[in-house]
Amino acid sequence: MGLLTSSREALLFPSRDSLTSFMMERWGEISSRAVKRKGRADVALSGGRTPVDVYRKVAEMGRTIPWDKIHIFLADERFVPPDHEDSNYRMIRDTIISRVTIPEENVHAIPTDGCDPETSARQYEEAIRFFRLDAGQYPSFDLIVLGLGVDGHTASLFPGNNAVHETARLAAAVRRNDGSHDRITLTIPVLNSAAHLIFLVTGEEKAAILRRVVETRDISLPAALVDPGRGDVLFLIDEEAGALLSRDRFSRTRQ
Ligand code: 6PG
Repeated sequence: MGLLTSSREALLFPSRDSLTSFMMERWGEISSRAVKRKGRADVALSGGRTPVDVYRKVAEMGRTIPWDKIHIFLADERFVPPDHEDSNYRMIRDTIISRVTIPEENVHAIPTDGCDPETSARQYEEAIRFFRLDAGQYPSFDLIVLGLGVDGHTASLFPGNNAVHETARLAAAVRRNDGSHDRITLTIPVLNSAAHLIFLVTGEEKAAILRRVVETRDISLPAALVDPGRGDVLFLIDEEAGALLSRDRFSRTRQ
């Protein structure tokens, strides 16, 4: 196994199936341990295409996962109605929430109806205060699942957007000027307060940017700013996405 540092690790998998199986195991371990320790597990999930299969498979794990004690938050959301085809909530509902027995109050969607993105971000912060935070405190999610965009974004933290530098807020509105949906995102300090962060990165189109994030640590890329103080960050990578990484330094192939 190759280690980036004690809290940053990159694992290379020969196939998406082996990556998914590993992720299922980790999800089970992390949530069970959190439930044992504090009676619940708080997870924040990203959208995008990469995690769809993982989410479906994790939902199929049934009672191996203590769903009634898991609280599902979103790492980010596109500012669209919850039934919109681009809604992250809709994807997570279809892959997980509708397939497991989880109390409604354990699902903390980002409100997008009848408000603007700034109000939505504020309302979402209130939902996160579920953690009973004192002023100035950040929540510590047990698990945050992240993806990587080809431009180096993660969650909805895009290079050059003000939200990347937000330190006072837990969630921020992200205005897009390129015709794509506005978004709401957890902020960097919230990501960096998590116990476990797992990036799922697959496909050759991610190879070049992944190298800049994990090897060069190019801090102009939001994904490279993910560096939890007390937690750990794990990059789960398939062969295609890992094609440009120096394998001898930090990769492990699992069968
Ligand atoms: C989203 C995200 C985003 C995503 C990356 C990777 O809602 O789009 O949360 O950060 O994880 O863009 O997306 P793909 O998995 O589709 O490549």
